[in-house]
Amino acid sequence: MNLRGLCGYNKTSVFVFLCSQVQMDVFCSNRSLRCAPANLSHGIQTLDLSRNMLQNLTLETLAFHTSLHNLNLHSNKIQFIQPDLFKDMTNLKVLDLSRNYLDVFALTKTYIGPLPAVESLDLSSNGLYTGMTDYFLSHSPLLENLSLSGNSITKIAKNTFNGSLGLRGINLHNNVILEIEDGAFDSLHNLTELDLSKNSITCITDFNLSKLKVLNLSKNSMETFQTADSDIEYDLLYLDLSENRIPYFPLLPRRNKIVYLDVSRNQLYSVNVTGPAEELAILGHSSSNLRTRHQLLSNLVYLDLSYNQLKSIPLSFICSMLSLEVLNVSNNCISSFYVEDLLPQVRVLDLSYNSLQNFSLGENTLQLLEELFLQGNALTTLDPQSFQRLPSIRYLQLQQNNLKICNENHLHPPDCVSFSSIPTLQYLYLSENSLKVVPANAFYNTPLKLLDLSLNPGLEMDPNSLSGLENSLVHLFLRENNISKLMTDLSLLNHLKFVDLSTNQLTTLPLWNKESSIESLNLQNNNLVTLEYNTVAALERSLKTLYMGSNPLSCCSNLRFLHMVQRSAVVVPDIETVTCVYLQDSEPVNIERVTHEMCRTLDSRTVKYIFFVTRTGKK
Ligand SMILES: *[C@@H]1O[C@H](CO)[C@@H](O)[C@H](O)[C@H]1NC(C)=O
Ligand SMILES: *[C@@H]1O[C@H](CO)[C@@H](O)[C@H](O)[C@H]1NC(C)=O
Ligand SMILES: *[C@@H]1O[C@H](CO)[C@@H](O)[C@H](O)[C@H]1NC(C)=O
Ligand SMILES: *[C@@H]1O[C@H](CO)[C@@H](O)[C@H](O)[C@H]1NC(C)=O
Ligand SMILES: *[C@@H]1O[C@H](CO)[C@@H](O)[C@H](O)[C@H]1NC(C)=O
Repeated sequence: MNLRGLCGYNKTSVFVFLCSQVQMDVFCSNRSLRCAPANLSHGIQTLDLSRNMLQNLTLETLAFHTSLHNLNLHSNKIQFIQPDLFKDMTNLKVLDLSRNYLDVFALTKTYIGPLPAVESLDLSSNGLYTGMTDYFLSHSPLLENLSLSGNSITKIAKNTFNGSLGLRGINLHNNVILEIEDGAFDSLHNLTELDLSKNSITCITDFNLSKLKVLNLSKNSMETFQTADSDIEYDLLYLDLSENRIPYFPLLPRRNKIVYLDVSRNQLYSVNVTGPAEELAILGHSSSNLRTRHQLLSNLVYLDLSYNQLKSIPLSFICSMLSLEVLNVSNNCISSFYVEDLLPQVRVLDLSYNSLQNFSLGENTLQLLEELFLQGNALTTLDPQSFQRLPSIRYLQLQQNNLKICNENHLHPPDCVSFSSIPTLQYLYLSENSLKVVPANAFYNTPLKLLDLSLNPGLEMDPNSLSGLENSLVHLFLRENNISKLMTDLSLLNHLKFVDLSTNQLTTLPLWNKESSIESLNLQNNNLVTLEYNTVAALERSLKTLYMGSNPLSCCSNLRFLHMVQRSAVVVPDIETVTCVYLQDSEPVNIERVTHEMCRTLDSRTVKYIFFVTRTGKK
């Protein structure tokens, strides 16, 4: 008997074989079903028929399941729904019809009839276009959440939601909406969440949905967002305007509670609300009104202005933002940043990838700042004590600038920045600063866990440059510094676990005088010929990962090391590129292929080590 064949109802036990049941919930997902199982017990509450091949939903197969609460028909081939199928399903709250062919059904201009109890309806990805939703929504009085995402709707008409006046959330993500008729959402008194992201909306000039809490307009072609001029208090909390083409700061409700505002990836060149004069005249805004507008964002917690063309952040703009915790203005054109006695709650400030030449902080400012991103700017000189003024700073990104590091308590070299005595700082990134020296005690009394000094070619590190970090430093990055001999004794750093020394000119490993705790060591692309025996021994106990490729290793003078690798005591992720030379002028061989004959002919004394090196069966 072909249970998966046509939907003739000869009451075979399709269900027994193909579905599973847990109490009153039945799961038949992904069973190649062409029709709903016929012999389901009465009283079931959940029926999951997703990912099958159902085409027609008929009264005969489904209508008697009036006990259903939750019916999942996601990803079938449904193109026909018998009218009034759901009329008597007075318990059905959740109906998922996403990813079907309901456009085919809508073309027949048939109404599915009432959805008397449905609260959540998913019609996403059905090829529906403008007007087609009427056949599904005409009578759904309790509907709260509706998803129409991934369809081809171009216009929201005034009557689109007339049959579902209880809607709280509408998801219209990923359609091609160009037009929203005036008043289309006005009769939805409970509407709090509206997702219009990824459409083709060009402007909103009279935003008046004062009950809305979440509005997503990301990824449209918006050039203007303007609220109707009114003294009504708006409930809006989240406003996402990212990835549009907005040149002026959005005109937000005068009385607002906005906590989250994303205007990133637009064309803002100023945070002023001033648009072309004639537009404003039409809207009846006086210019003094506008000036006060942007001063009233006192509930704002998160503000993202990244990827715009802002040249400055005026103090008048941020001075009302007493609740702001995250300010992101990365990837703009800001050349100077100064704040004093402002932004009392800011924890994260991102000014990366601007053209900052000046960054200065007045007294009593940014007292809660924990993370500061200043990478990718043109900072050369800073007040040497800039970062000592930030009593909560924990994370500092300064890579890709032109800074110099001061000696502890001395302003030397001239124009330097001090990193000593910052008791909260744990993460410091100073790569690509053309640093020439790291002076002695540079980080004294600053309990760094991570220090990145990479990509400062020619860097000279004082033997005492890392003093003070003995009991804190875990990560040390010294990649691409053209270092030929490391003068600092890394074995004094008791907590050091991750060390990157790749792409330097090291000819010997730094000495380890005692047991190390290093777990990961990157020595790729250096000039290492021989790894000193005591160092390998000191590393061996803790080391888990070792990068070693692109070094002119000698095979026969590194038997201890080769032994370590070949018995898999340590993982060498780049082992394919780790080669050694066993005779002068011979071709390098992969270290896994070193055999005892190779070295025996050179030096019979090494034979006893080679015994360990060669794994059985490996020649
Ligand atoms: C679905 O209904 C159409 C006509 O409405 C019919 O041609 C088709 O065979 C039916 N499909 C199944 C699987 O019953
Ligand atoms: C509607 O969606 C919101 C979140 O988007 C959710 O919290 C709520 O439970 C949903 N309501 C129903 C009836 O599914
Ligand atoms: C708005 O929609 C975009 C695209 O779908 C999504 O990535 C973003 O998280 C949404 N924003 C909010 C605030 O939910
Ligand atoms: C600021 O925005 C940029 C671009 O969207 C993002 O990459 C970066 O992670 C954000 N910064 C923070 C601190 O979240
Ligand atoms: C790198 O070091 C070598 C000497 O070890 C020197 O000749 C070369 O100029 C250095 N390169 C840079 C970019 O500092």
